[in-house]
Amino acid sequence: MLSNIIQDPLIAAALFSDLQFGKEFHQMSKQSAAQGLDCELETFRNDLQKAADLIVQLYGALDHARITPAKTRMEIASLFDEPFAEEPQPMGAILREVENKIFANSTLYLSPRFFGYINSGGNQASILGELLASAVNQICAMWHFSPAASEVERRVIRWIAQFIGYAPEAGGCLLSGGSAGNLVGLAVARKQKAQFDTAALGMRGGPPVTVYVSREGHASLEKGMVLLGMGRNQLRRIAVRDDFTIDLDSLEKHVTEDRRNGYCPICVVGNAGTTNTGSVDPLDELAEFCRDQDLWFHVDAAYGGPAACTKAAGKLFRGLDRADSGEESETGADGPLDFKDYGPQLHRNFRALKVWMTFKAYGARKLRAAIESNIEIMRYLADRIDQSQDFVRLAPVPLSVVCFQYRTTDIFVRGDQKYLDELNNELLKELEKDGRVFLSGTKINGKSVLRACSVNHRLRREDVDFLLDVVREVGRSLIAARNPSDATARRNLP
Ligand SMILES: Cc1ncc(COP(=O)(O)O)c(C=O)c1O
Repeated sequence: MLSNIIQDPLIAAALFSDLQFGKEFHQMSKQSAAQGLDCELETFRNDLQKAADLIVQLYGALDHARITPAKTRMEIASLFDEPFAEEPQPMGAILREVENKIFANSTLYLSPRFFGYINSGGNQASILGELLASAVNQICAMWHFSPAASEVERRVIRWIAQFIGYAPEAGGCLLSGGSAGNLVGLAVARKQKAQFDTAALGMRGGPPVTVYVSREGHASLEKGMVLLGMGRNQLRRIAVRDDFTIDLDSLEKHVTEDRRNGYCPICVVGNAGTTNTGSVDPLDELAEFCRDQDLWFHVDAAYGGPAACTKAAGKLFRGLDRADSGEESETGADGPLDFKDYGPQLHRNFRALKVWMTFKAYGARKLRAAIESNIEIMRYLADRIDQSQDFVRLAPVPLSVVCFQYRTTDIFVRGDQKYLDELNNELLKELEKDGRVFLSGTKINGKSVLRACSVNHRLRREDVDFLLDVVREVGRSLIAARNPSDATARRNLP
């Protein structure tokens, strides 16, 4: 979960505060709550205990659990091919279904052997936080009907801001994730820099506005441009340097050219940890550029932001605190309290509780150490790859993403890029069927690569050793199965 951070909270507050929600609130308060569904409290306590036992069992089996169920869509769909639930069923039976159908068929990000996408392993305090938040059932829209939850949200946004080095007066609200953070960041940028009243006139009120991000920027920015009616073509994708960070000369050229051609540049998005490789743009230089060019500076820190607090990677984030908006941060003590004014949602659930409990249960020092350890272990993976004969790394490792290929030790195929691309694509599918580890794939300079990413405090060095062993084992059997009579494939196995 993320928060959007706006350096000046009043700007964020003004984004939606002119819209009237009073009538809906009034009508809503007249609706009566459904009655009579609660069971006896003792039964409820037993059910909670059973649910807790299920959770403990799931975590107890983590070390040996498959990461993927490796079943077909049809196999899993058939588990839920059931009639409309007209009549009540006993909670014990429902919980067994959760165990056998849902827990058993979920991809286990919880496991340190999950290396796909950017899915965190979660933590125990936040499990309790989610349970308790749904028990108290707050809908953090306006202060007066979620007073404690609003204050907790204000507090955690301040803590997140402090955690990553933002000024204490930064403000915002918790959002569902990076896509929502980028959407709100673009909306604020447009409001501030479009030179016409886009809220009233829409995009017909002035020249087309343009936004700039490196070629490595996240696809949610395109979605944001589309959703805001600014048009995906007005998102300028800027070339990157060898380390996958934005090329500043190319950025400047694009902005100048756009101005000459009648466009209205409004915003540069800096990447603070790209999804593909974890590259961090030169944020300080981007901040300087935006100041000189009168552009809004939004930073997409959806993945990398927390690493700003670490010794291992913190220096890469110099300038993050100069962003006008970003995706981790709160309102000053006197700022507005009605969170409905900060983002697109009116009713939001009480997400802040799990963040508050996480900070309190572990403390910033332990959280920092966990992020630090994650980065160090993934760099250890990079070293192991660099020292091996049959793997090759294809990108630097500034954070916790390692992009590599399995290339065998067979000198006849190692230079054959087409063969390696196919082999690695097949390998990904085989690994998913195998289920012992999980990787996702991406393209690096046109090559199909295996991408290992970990944002999991449970990660140990032995997990990345295991990852390489499994990839090697599955890779070898894949080669053997592809061409059993090919002597070279076997002869050159390491
Ligand atoms: C850099 C970056 N920005 C934005 C997003 C989108 O985040 P979400 O999936 O939470 O909407 C992601 C997701 O991985 C990301 O890595």
